Amino acid sequence: MNLAQAEAAPINLRAPAAEDGAAVYELIAQCPPLDTNSMYCNLLQCTHFSATSVAAELNDEIVGFISGYIQPDQPDTLFIWQVAVGEKARGQGLAGRMLRDILARTACDEVKFIETTITPDNRASWALFESLAKKLDAELNHSVMFDRQQHFAGQHETEMLVRIGPIK
Ligand SMILES: CC(C)(COP(=O)(O)OP(=O)(O)OC[C@H]1O[C@@H](n2cnc3c(N)ncnc32)[C@H](O)[C@@H]1OP(=O)(O)O)[C@@H](O)C(=O)NCCC(=O)NCCS
Repeated sequence: MNLAQAEAAPINLRAPAAEDGAAVYELIAQCPPLDTNSMYCNLLQCTHFSATSVAAELNDEIVGFISGYIQPDQPDTLFIWQVAVGEKARGQGLAGRMLRDILARTACDEVKFIETTITPDNRASWALFESLAKKLDAELNHSVMFDRQQHFAGQHETEMLVRIGPIK
């Protein structure tokens, strides 16, 4: 399939299933700077967290994936774990579309806040969540969640907590 055909084909969004776990693992591996998880972890995302996660499919290929969950002690807060869009599907608004798809689900009926973590230098990710806050007409606040020295033993960039909301 050439690029023109790929652009013309619709990208379908749906809740993921166990059968997507291996493809999600491959997609995450192709999307640095995302950390790869174990395939078992991706399988749990695709099953236990399916209602708050999304797979984007183009001609039977998973080209985008978001894992998310409702925070166990905060039922009004959707936590977005990872956002991945394969290179050939980038720049078409797919990540934003996937986030709004999750938010529109019944699983998110009580959601008033969206949280995620972003490393300070991930410009694309900051742009994605700033754009979401703007579209939702909601405030965006940030603070340190996991510190490079204190939590990552110096082995990973600091992860900033980004909190969007309240959503009207
Ligand atoms: C970040 C990522 C998910 C964006 O996917 P995408 O489908 O291309 O994003 P969208 O087209 O929905 O863009 C959303 C917004 O971010 C902006 N944006 C996207 N990529 C950008 C980049 N590289 N630099 C600056 N802004 C960018 C877009 O302009 C858009 O802003 P707008 O709504 O104001 O026009 C994708 O680049 C990716 O998978 N990167 C690698 C993994 C990663 O870093 N994930 C995020 C961490 S959780």
